[in-house]
Amino acid sequence: MEKNLRQALADTRVSEIRYFESIDSTNDEALRWIANGAPDLAIVVADEQTKGRGRFDRRWVTRPDTSLAFTLILTSAFAEPLKIPLYAPLGGIAVQEAVKNLLGLDARIKWPNDVLLNNNKFCGILVEAAWHGTDLQGVVVGIGINVSAESVPDPVQQNFPATSLESACGFPVERFELLKNVINAFNAWRPELGSARFMHRWEEKLAFIGEWVRIEQSEKTSIIGKEVGIDPSGRLILVDDDGRKTLIEIGDVHLRPGPGRDTGGSHAG
Ligand code: BTN
Repeated sequence: MEKNLRQALADTRVSEIRYFESIDSTNDEALRWIANGAPDLAIVVADEQTKGRGRFDRRWVTRPDTSLAFTLILTSAFAEPLKIPLYAPLGGIAVQEAVKNLLGLDARIKWPNDVLLNNNKFCGILVEAAWHGTDLQGVVVGIGINVSAESVPDPVQQNFPATSLESACGFPVERFELLKNVINAFNAWRPELGSARFMHRWEEKLAFIGEWVRIEQSEKTSIIGKEVGIDPSGRLILVDDDGRKTLIEIGDVHLRPGPGRDTGGSHAG
């Protein structure tokens, strides 16, 4: 398995690879590696995670032989720490492009960074910054992709409806070939982080664009509005019935399909 991984990644700019049959979390290993001096574009890949983590301290299940679970380590070019929130959308853009090029699937990015097929999530992204006091040592971009149908958690464990790539495309997907495509797309887009072209691509691939969505905020408040786009700093733009605009900051919020004003039905997730 490791040999296939190394062969597939020979065609990328990855600097060093750490592969584990089983590990707690590839993000945790990446943060440990940064503390000991990881090079830019090192990668941690695991077949199984025993303590995989998602956003909002959720659990992310990675069963052996079913998924892609990896973390890219970025340790250079942090002239603009304000752009850190854009690394998760960068991962989303890369995954979207890779599944299109390799599998012909039209995925959509659920703002800010999950990736969906037919409104079902198959990819989650967890970005974490590594600080040493006030010095930013690096950023880790952890990406989990449901490849085979067996990777999809039980419905009771899903906090958003989930699917897998193979369920969507109907044929076997070579995981490391997919990983190679994601890394190459990530590297191609990395210098564009926050550029007009980057923001345009992100907006162009947004899920639920033109639809009513509900943004759940931490203190049990939620905002409902029609999703109309992203502003130049990555905030989601919602418009209500009276044409009033609300800008949602990338942060601790959950986006859900909202009451279907146009269709009359409610499809809250
Ligand atoms: C989410 O949807 O909330 C984000 C999920 C991120 C999962 C990936 S799998 C690889 C990396 N290691 C982790 O522990 N988490 C990320």
